[in-house]
Amino acid sequence: MTTLFDIFGFVNVVLRGFDLVAQTVLIGSVSFMLFVTVPPGGGAGHRVRGFYAASRCLIMTAAFATVVIVIACTTLSALILAASLGASWREVAGAAFVIAGVIKALAAAGIGTLAAARPRPAAMTRIAIGAASVVLVCAAVATSHAVARFGDSGLLVSATLAHELGAALWLGGLPSLWLALTRAETPQIASRIGTRYSVLAIAGVALIIGSAIVFAVSYIASFDAVLGTAYGAMAATKSVLLGMLLLLGLANFRAVRRFAADGAASRRVQRFVEVEMGIGFAVLMAAASITSLPPGVDLVDGRVTGSDIVARITPESPRLASPDHASLALPALQARLDAEARAEQGASRPQAFVPGSGSPPLRNAYDIAWSEYNHHWAGLLVTVMGLAALARRSRRMRWAKHWPLLFLLLAAFLFLRADPEVWPMGDLGLIETLKDPEVAQHRLFEALVVGFAVFEWRVSTGRIASRRLKLTFPLLVAAGATLLLTHSHALGNVKEELLIELTHLPIAVLGVTAGWARWLEVKAPEDEGRWGGWVWPTCFVLIGLLLLGYREA
Ligand code: HEM
Repeated sequence: MTTLFDIFGFVNVVLRGFDLVAQTVLIGSVSFMLFVTVPPGGGAGHRVRGFYAASRCLIMTAAFATVVIVIACTTLSALILAASLGASWREVAGAAFVIAGVIKALAAAGIGTLAAARPRPAAMTRIAIGAASVVLVCAAVATSHAVARFGDSGLLVSATLAHELGAALWLGGLPSLWLALTRAETPQIASRIGTRYSVLAIAGVALIIGSAIVFAVSYIASFDAVLGTAYGAMAATKSVLLGMLLLLGLANFRAVRRFAADGAASRRVQRFVEVEMGIGFAVLMAAASITSLPPGVDLVDGRVTGSDIVARITPESPRLASPDHASLALPALQARLDAEARAEQGASRPQAFVPGSGSPPLRNAYDIAWSEYNHHWAGLLVTVMGLAALARRSRRMRWAKHWPLLFLLLAAFLFLRADPEVWPMGDLGLIETLKDPEVAQHRLFEALVVGFAVFEWRVSTGRIASRRLKLTFPLLVAAGATLLLTHSHALGNVKEELLIELTHLPIAVLGVTAGWARWLEVKAPEDEGRWGGWVWPTCFVLIGLLLLGYREA
């Protein structure tokens, strides 16, 4: 139970993210089936039945995933509640989140069963599936911040409903759109499907933007809270990702209308839809992270100020010499940290509490110098990698094709230095420390980095020609960056941790961009994918420079 409590914060965010993804795809697939595949009043020819079969399959898969994830999420939270409050199981079973979880799982199971039982798009089946979907969304909203707020929260409940529905209509419909485009027999059919889906997507975007404005006004409320709280910073990150999705959506919107005239347009839209799904996944993981944080408006103490940020990002020369393990030779910095810790202890209002986030470990000047040294060397390596990948792209320097081997150096460096208290540098055993979410995440990233190195070197030197395998690297980059969005440094909104978070969020966004730009480079024909080949190494260079400028004090 202690281990579960330790890792609750991180596991809860990841599970909640998967829950949002499964729910969004489920409702999105149902909407696609109801309004695009078999629109009310639209004929039901044999082609429609072909699309309906694909829609059914998606709905059943998403329904099954929703049931499993909701049960996992609810059980985990129930265990934590029982353990932290010493509540009886009868009391836990009556908790609002347990009741909402049971209703959500039953609604998802109902949708899946109806889709499985009826191979034909009968009107009654469609009505019943639509009704169960409404119940599911309402159950999902029942566990939101809006419902938990004091006073009149009607507007916030409606905004949360609109936000979740908008996400489902737009992003949740993408897998169905992708399937339908791959199955469309003629450009005219593909165009008709794309045009019908556009209406759903536009409605979804309008709902998301409208509700995001309500959230910004009610939950963030001031410009200070945008960068001054983890909640606000995460909302700003989501706005950047939304901008990227809107650009892709606009490109698709225009391309769909050219299907009949441009033979390559359908394949291009399919590729863009794949990227939209990937970025959409990142947005939903970020949504899980933001809903686990206290709204910015509620946190008035310990906010990061503009001058804190300016002081932190003012360039200084990188720390490329490691502090000595035995010495603690930074007394001035240590004195300042002690003063800040005293001030925080004397704060009149309590910090936000999230089970599992614990208290931030005490850090001294030595720890900070150690961490900065690690980030700066990692930054140097990543910058060199990006430059070498750009050199390879220019096709002028043959040696540059071996650039991915630099990842091995990075993995070895991180393994040795990321957690100095853990073997091989420290006394703690490797396995026993994996229960610490921070250490576990570092080890996972190191494994990912080794994966990058091996695969990409084989791709870069022509040893791997398969397009499918070439997609491993972009997927790993995008997955690593998405995980970084859920890497909760600042659950308790502690000022120092938030300042660190503020440097990780742009890195995560650049990582997501790099991964999906490389995806397009691999999948698109040479002339179309070339720009992707310039974008992702540039993102690597920018990530490296951000790491080189990283400071913790
Ligand atoms: C593609 C765009 C977006 C998608 C798909 C999306 C999706 C979601 C989802 C599914 C949730 C969970 C709602 C819940 O269960 O409580 C959420 C929460 C949230 N989103 Fe978005 N979102 C998007 C863009 C934005 C933007 C641009 C903002 C900027 C203000 C934003 C602000 C928020 C906030 C503040 C929450 C937390 C609400 C709460 O505390 O209950 N979202 N988002």
